[in-house]
Amino acid sequence: MYALNEAVANVRHQIESHDTRFTILVGSLGLLFLLALALRSSPTNQKQAPMLSETIPYVSNTLQYMTNMNTFLARTKKALAKRNIVGFRLGGRPFYFLTSPPNIQTFFRTSPAIGFETFILVAITNMMGATPKDVAKFAHDKSGRQPNPAPGTAEDAKRYWFDMQTMMHKYLSTTHYSDALARTYQRFFNRELDAYYDSLLANSSAKDDPEWTEMRIIPLLKATMAKAAILSLQGEYIFEVVPDLLDRFWDYDKVLSTILYGPPKWLFPGVYAKAERFCGATAKFHQAAVAKFDWEGPDREKDWDPVLGSRFWREFSRWLTDCGFTPRTCGGFAGVTGIVAINANTVPVCTWAIMEMIRGQELLTRLRDEIAGALVEEDGETRFDLQRLVNLPLLQSVYVEVMRLRVSINVTREVVQPLEVDGYLLKPGSVLQAPTEISHYDEAVWGVEGHPAAEFWAERHVKYVDGVPVFEMRGRPTDFFPYGGGVAICPGRHFAKQEIMLTIAMLASKFEYEFVGWVDIASGRPSDRPPINDPKYAGAAGVPPDRDMRVRVKRLW
Ligand code: HEM
Ligand SMILES: *[C@@H]1O[C@H](CO)[C@@H](O)[C@H](O)[C@H]1NC(C)=O
Ligand SMILES: *[C@@H]1O[C@H](CO)[C@@H](O)[C@H](O)[C@H]1NC(C)=O
Repeated sequence: MYALNEAVANVRHQIESHDTRFTILVGSLGLLFLLALALRSSPTNQKQAPMLSETIPYVSNTLQYMTNMNTFLARTKKALAKRNIVGFRLGGRPFYFLTSPPNIQTFFRTSPAIGFETFILVAITNMMGATPKDVAKFAHDKSGRQPNPAPGTAEDAKRYWFDMQTMMHKYLSTTHYSDALARTYQRFFNRELDAYYDSLLANSSAKDDPEWTEMRIIPLLKATMAKAAILSLQGEYIFEVVPDLLDRFWDYDKVLSTILYGPPKWLFPGVYAKAERFCGATAKFHQAAVAKFDWEGPDREKDWDPVLGSRFWREFSRWLTDCGFTPRTCGGFAGVTGIVAINANTVPVCTWAIMEMIRGQELLTRLRDEIAGALVEEDGETRFDLQRLVNLPLLQSVYVEVMRLRVSINVTREVVQPLEVDGYLLKPGSVLQAPTEISHYDEAVWGVEGHPAAEFWAERHVKYVDGVPVFEMRGRPTDFFPYGGGVAICPGRHFAKQEIMLTIAMLASKFEYEFVGWVDIASGRPSDRPPINDPKYAGAAGVPPDRDMRVRVKRLW
């Protein structure tokens, strides 16, 4: 009875505080129960994997998962301290959280027993808002992602998953293209920083020292980083077609984790309106750009052109068009693959890195010293030598620390054939999740006396060999997987790493800072505490700080 009272009180509280996730839950609970009935199969004699206890069978875990993530996470962590797999039912469907190197290895293995297309389909349907008949094209393609189509595939069947993966791998993950993206990013980012700083100076009323001005870190990065990344990937023309693109994107970013659940439209008109405002605009861009670009001309194979940006975006746009998808579906891809995927994680991760750097002035000084070794002057332009930059030990350590602490993703797979994990046989239809937050915060792996795992420590991955600093990640690769793994691994990971390091390096060396104070984001008023991970983003992706930082800045070059 107590649990029920608690659940009811929770309902009231959630409704009063307009928690969207909860409203979604109410909206879709009926649906989940139907799903549960459909997925229930007859009991077997197999050994059952350990399950989280439930006060109200089928209901309380679902409620907590969706409404009280932190409590749920705490319970999961406790259960996982004793074993490496723990199950629970979510709307009747079996879910399993996995940890420990062998389980993570199983999780990322290429195997016909493990699928992940279902979850990309969910993103294509809900986040991108693709046209149903286009979603069906993906859904019907069962040929898999291996070069040889899965047995039983019709010979002339179009291979949507395989084609998409091949293109991403070739034009995003290989060195030539990720380096080209990083070089373009560096140029645009420098230009955007200059423009932002000039605009700050022009707006500033305090003229006592004309070179110093004040700014906040979150808006700085949301403007300059996102703009430079989009310019690099998709080109300049998109800003001509959609001048207020950034505003539309960050507005949509706020509701991403809500829309992913596919809540009923009649309950969430505002959420869908934001999606339409963004993906509708990127649809306009896609159509205009594909028509404008000269497909027979000299830009066809260039690393960058103004109309469609990178080679990846050119090839991808061409492919979307050739598949015969509707403009709205293409717009969904342009918005979500082209803009959300490249910014939703890197921007919050860098925001943290910059804040850590400025709050610990000593770290800033040391980073500057290290980074100076990668700065080169060429044709009157200051830039970083990428090769040298990505090999700097302290910078790499800072990169791993912010990724470890600020990326919170539940990497997800689906069991499609009976699968043994940790000695338990899991049924098809089960969902497997490897939450980064459990592995990345594991005290036994990352903790060092005086520097607990939950704390940012810039030096955690620096080892001294005869007094010379060397980068060495403290955990094993199976303890650190911000980019997922296996065939589904993030194709943008090489560019992302370069982009993050370039951003930190550029901001460390280009400006002088004086810390002014922490800011409450909603009210804009001073806050009396430093930021923590914004709980609204737990499990969703890159987790931004819940407080902003105000600083005084002066440009150095
Ligand atoms: C800190 C930055 C980033 C993080 C933490 C991140 C993380 C991830 C993760 C966890 C996945 C799913 C992997 C899996 O299921 O195993 C993914 C997929 C993906 N990422 Fe990233 N990502 C980042 C940056 C980027 C960038 C910069 C790009 C583009 C240039 C990008 C493009 C993509 C795409 C297109 C997919 C879907 C791939 C598919 O359909 O199989 N990501 N990312
Ligand atoms: C991710 O996993 C955590 C447990 O580590 C859970 O509390 C949270 O609800 C999950 N979030 C999503 C969006 O799946
Ligand atoms: C400067 O002021 C203009 C006009 O109010 C505004 O649009 C712009 O964003 C401001 N610049 C910065 C960097 O805040």
